[in-house]
Amino acid sequence: MSGSNEKSPQARANWLRLEIEKHNNLYYQDAAPQITDQQFDELLRELKEIEEQFPDLQNEDSPTLTVGGKPLEGFAPARHLVRMQSLDNTYKESEVTDFVTRVTKIVTGEYFTLTIEPKVDGVAISLLYEDGKLIRAATRGDGTTGDDVTANIQTIPSIPQSAPMLPAGLIEIRGEIYLPKSVFQRLNEERDEEGLPAFANPRNAAAGSLKQLDSRIVATRGLLGIFYGFGQFPSGITTSGTGFLKLLKAAGFQTPERLWHATSTEEALAAIQELGAIRHDFAYETDGAVLKIDSLDQRERLGSTNKAPRWAIAYKYQPEQATTKLLDITVQVGRTGVLTPVAELEPVFVSGSRVSRATLHNEEEIHRKDLRIGDRVVIEKAGEVIPAVVQVLVQERAGEERAFVMPDRCPSCGGAVTKEEGQVAHRCTNPSCPAQLLRRLEHFACRGAMDIEGLGESMVSQLVESSLVKEIPGIYHLEKPALLELERMGEKSAGNLVSAIAGSKNRTLWRLLFGLGILHVGAVAARKLAARFGTMERLASASVEDLQAVDDVGEIMALSIRRWFDNPKVQELLDSLRQAGVN
Ligand code: IVH
Repeated sequence: MSGSNEKSPQARANWLRLEIEKHNNLYYQDAAPQITDQQFDELLRELKEIEEQFPDLQNEDSPTLTVGGKPLEGFAPARHLVRMQSLDNTYKESEVTDFVTRVTKIVTGEYFTLTIEPKVDGVAISLLYEDGKLIRAATRGDGTTGDDVTANIQTIPSIPQSAPMLPAGLIEIRGEIYLPKSVFQRLNEERDEEGLPAFANPRNAAAGSLKQLDSRIVATRGLLGIFYGFGQFPSGITTSGTGFLKLLKAAGFQTPERLWHATSTEEALAAIQELGAIRHDFAYETDGAVLKIDSLDQRERLGSTNKAPRWAIAYKYQPEQATTKLLDITVQVGRTGVLTPVAELEPVFVSGSRVSRATLHNEEEIHRKDLRIGDRVVIEKAGEVIPAVVQVLVQERAGEERAFVMPDRCPSCGGAVTKEEGQVAHRCTNPSCPAQLLRRLEHFACRGAMDIEGLGESMVSQLVESSLVKEIPGIYHLEKPALLELERMGEKSAGNLVSAIAGSKNRTLWRLLFGLGILHVGAVAARKLAARFGTMERLASASVEDLQAVDDVGEIMALSIRRWFDNPKVQELLDSLRQAGVN
């Protein structure tokens, strides 16, 4: 970030406001932030300090007084019954102490309890229920008006459409929509294959998913929700935050899985530490701890500023990062021929494990980050699981760093490489590329697809290298004597593999469909297609319209399926599978 500190406070404040607005848009509108939350918070903090020192410089729509996003085009606006506020953030324990001191002064002489719960790094949502029926779901937007995303939220099975245990009347339930860390990795792998830009972290993936105008896409994403608060609610239903959580849980909502109570700064800090130690085990990403006064009566008296309540504060954990050297960028070939650049790193420890490689997704991503071979880089775990290069330390360049150029020939087979208009992916166009075959076989045999035990990565690469298998149907012609020729292959394992392969002939249709790796067809869609059409033959003759009539199948997927079946090579492949006895 640039912007001189030597300018007048007015000039600096103006610059900060523009910068904050830009990053707000990148975060909320585009779901593609370019700076970390911490860097954003620093900009906001600096602006706040200037405004406090020079109150004349503050105006009504300063970002220090407003919350993030504007409503998006394409969604109906939804006005919240009670404003959706944000939280004051801090990275310092001393400010937690200040918070407790401040609160104590206001509710002086009274007993109070604080709760400490995970700060879920998702997308804020407000669900409106009337007499236990979900009538609307809205994003936060500018705090007053968000986007009506009801249709998208209705595709999330764990969010009750009807919750008879909720009290009668209108109730706004607030929480976060998130993408589980495990799903995030899979989604990005699929996006790399499909030539779509990867998401930087689970929160962006959740935001990007929720902003889909096509709910069928949302349905395939595996989003979940967690709920911790409320807007409007019928009076008298509870007197505390924890009381409200109990009520939510009983009514069938997912609530924070751990919650601590504290009556002093020391206890609060201890809870923050404890949460910090276990938060990586949660299914969702967390970026902090939220401290809240539990009593609703005390909350009311503490009140709020324009932007955030005075009865709560968020303590944010420092992101776990490490710096290392980018030794090289190698290129991997995926099952659909997509070339994925991979960072080869000097090994380094981040969030408890040793990292030596990180996917760079595609060439554009490398250029966007201005990454060069030989650079010193900052590594973080995206979604706390997958290592990612988040920043280049440009100031540490020695001048010998080299720019990366995507090869114009496939590194595996030497075939031509192309890039389709409007796509970020480069693809090897040779259908018999051994690297593609390798990935196709791995995918076909994997647990989530045809589930063939013994046909893992190393077995597949032996089969491809020895030319025993030249296409998927080839595995069904493998016989024991040929397998025994392979390295480290004994009588018993060869026998087991042959029978595992034979056993896979009767797998259900959806496994076969998913295993064949049709572009855009994931496991969820494969199940729905199989349920609808019943046989491969009926599916093969379905029109684009027939396909689109299936839940979760949009135009892009329908076209891709049709194109796949229309390919004569695919017809040959299916015939060979039939002849080999695949049911
Ligand atoms: S309480 C009046 N509790 O973090 C605002 N918020 O950065 C009450 N968040 O706007 C919010 N986990 O979207 C609360 N356990 C939690 C939370 C949480 C995540 C979000 C929420 C909030 C934002 C502030």
